[in-house]
Amino acid sequence: MGYTDNYERDAYGIVAFWLRSNLEHGQFFDRQISHHELELARANQSMVQSLGGIWQRAEEKQGDLGILINESQQAISEFRHFIMLGMNKALHCDLIVSTPVALMDHMIREAEESQKVFGLMQSGGQVFVADSVIHESTFWLRQMADHLAFVHHYLDPTNYDLQDKVRAMTQKFERLFLQANALKTIVRKPRTEMLPALNAFRQIVINEAKDLEAFKLELDALIKQCAAITTAPPNILEHIAREAHHLWRNLDSPSTAVGTIP
Ligand SMILES: [Fe+2]
Ligand SMILES: [Fe+2]
Repeated sequence: MGYTDNYERDAYGIVAFWLRSNLEHGQFFDRQISHHELELARANQSMVQSLGGIWQRAEEKQGDLGILINESQQAISEFRHFIMLGMNKALHCDLIVSTPVALMDHMIREAEESQKVFGLMQSGGQVFVADSVIHESTFWLRQMADHLAFVHHYLDPTNYDLQDKVRAMTQKFERLFLQANALKTIVRKPRTEMLPALNAFRQIVINEAKDLEAFKLELDALIKQCAAITTAPPNILEHIAREAHHLWRNLDSPSTAVGTIP
């Protein structure tokens, strides 16, 4: 199994995580652009190349970290802008791709989150653990529910049992996302303490994200063996398993999440 969840959570590792996420989004998008959209495909390929080069250097922990973060900010900002233009065209029915608008919006939100994380790294700004738990939960639980909806979309309709299972998991994550949104206003700022209700929620999300990571990896194996019929791009399950891993790691040890007051 080519899955690598063991990225080092040092500054280079965090930068590499986000670069890889954005790079893979470009690779997935590449497969879904129609041959009627050659200009779009070329522009996307050049973004993938540029993100790939920077990601390689982050992986090898080469060069000055500040410069690396600046270059990552620049490349991800261009990629975000590019997908936003694509989404705008799609909303005007002026684009021939098989990527749902919800998936473009999902990629844009992850690009924006990368930019926020890099901004925190650059400024050295810090937040309370409770703020971090609420932010990570609200941001990532929506992403987790989206992932399951996308997996459902890619699975062949004849996989009746799997479809049911994925739908039930989507609904579970939608409910958790609603709960995270509710906690955002119930637990008001300044969030100087971890209230028991927030802590219990954090534990539930950690356990559910771990189960989700395992499920995605099981499905990844089925897809790689060509045993589940799907139109999912290769490695997409591995990509979203990595994001589930990232979520529970951020919640499990908030002190290793960027910008959290230990
Ligand atoms: Fe992603
Ligand atoms: Fe995602």
